[in-house]
Amino acid sequence: MAFPERFSNLPDYAFPRLRKLLDKHAPGGEPIAMTIGEPRHAMPDFVGRILAENLAGFGVYPPNDGTSELLAAIAGWIARRYGVELSQDRLMVLNGTREGLFNAAIALCPEEKAGKRPVVLMPNPFYQVYAVAALAVGAEPVYVPATAATGFLPDYGRLPKDILDRTAIAYICSPANPQGAVASADYLADLLALAERHDFRVFADECYSEIWRKTAPPGLLAVAQAQGADPERVAVFHSLSKRSNLPGLRSGFVAAGLEAMARIRQLRAFAGAPLPLPLQRVAEACWQDEAHVEASRALYQQKFHDAAQVFAGHQGIALPDGGFFLWLPVEDGEAAALKLWRETGVRVLPGAYLSRDVGDENPGKGYIRVALVAPRQETQRGLTQLRDCLYD
Ligand SMILES: Cc1ncc(COP(=O)(O)O)c(C=O)c1O
Repeated sequence: MAFPERFSNLPDYAFPRLRKLLDKHAPGGEPIAMTIGEPRHAMPDFVGRILAENLAGFGVYPPNDGTSELLAAIAGWIARRYGVELSQDRLMVLNGTREGLFNAAIALCPEEKAGKRPVVLMPNPFYQVYAVAALAVGAEPVYVPATAATGFLPDYGRLPKDILDRTAIAYICSPANPQGAVASADYLADLLALAERHDFRVFADECYSEIWRKTAPPGLLAVAQAQGADPERVAVFHSLSKRSNLPGLRSGFVAAGLEAMARIRQLRAFAGAPLPLPLQRVAEACWQDEAHVEASRALYQQKFHDAAQVFAGHQGIALPDGGFFLWLPVEDGEAAALKLWRETGVRVLPGAYLSRDVGDENPGKGYIRVALVAPRQETQRGLTQLRDCLYD
């Protein structure tokens, strides 16, 4: 039996790769998980009650695009957060952003661009679904370095003209996973101008938007509005996974132009898996409440404060502007993750598992990604052990 060739070069996913690297070795101490981006702060206290009150909703097929109450709650959040008023037909509910980032590419990437195979741009390192989406639609993924030299964001404007002309979609992640860089309003405005010049769409993955250290990151919807950009250029993805500590709820949304949204919705009506109704009710309450978001952000800020103390005086270690990862320079990320596990039991992700070789360069190779998702004291202990093992 034949298999599709287009996925044949995909590496194993990061976490099975990590298990292969570490699990044949005993941990050097009590294990501390700092690998996966799975928040372990408390979920909002109203989740259980709302779920229980809406159990009967599991007995019906849910509305595909989201209930109008949930879409109204999302529109209200966007208006408060970004000052942008969107009608409900520019919004659709997702089972988390991951499937949305994938399915929107299926709905919106054309077969050809400038008469050739389309290109999908993505930062390198990056959240891995972007590459799989590009391959699924037969596009060429182009991995654009997002390194210290580029402020940990991709410099799409420096790509050759023929690549930009073939570009159908550019993914951007801000705050970025894994580096935590935040795209400024100017960066986003330049990206939109580039998209206008070369006629491509920007898919903005903003699922870490509510986790920041000093100031709230700008959003692409607001920048597009301020610039008077064509709404069709922009698709923005948000999630409750990180904002509300509900990764298992699998709930998010996409906001896009009317025509793009009609295409996304059409595909979902045939092939999508809408969010179960009781979960839509929970999501509705989450988007309406900021208190739990503020409490969780404050806890991350305390952990960043602890991290600053742990690494005080260590050159080259910088805290991110947003998200909940540290992106720490090491000589070799795999060797560092293995040493750390064997000597201390602290588990981190080698940066290269989130990035691709481009020529002989892999921009993640000299890094480890450290998730600050565990409770504060455990995180503090993990960071101290990590510093003593790898940097002292
Ligand atoms: C950058 C980025 N985008 C998207 C997602 C997926 O989030 P969701 O749980 O909303 O599918 C993650 C989850 O780790 C992520 O790190």
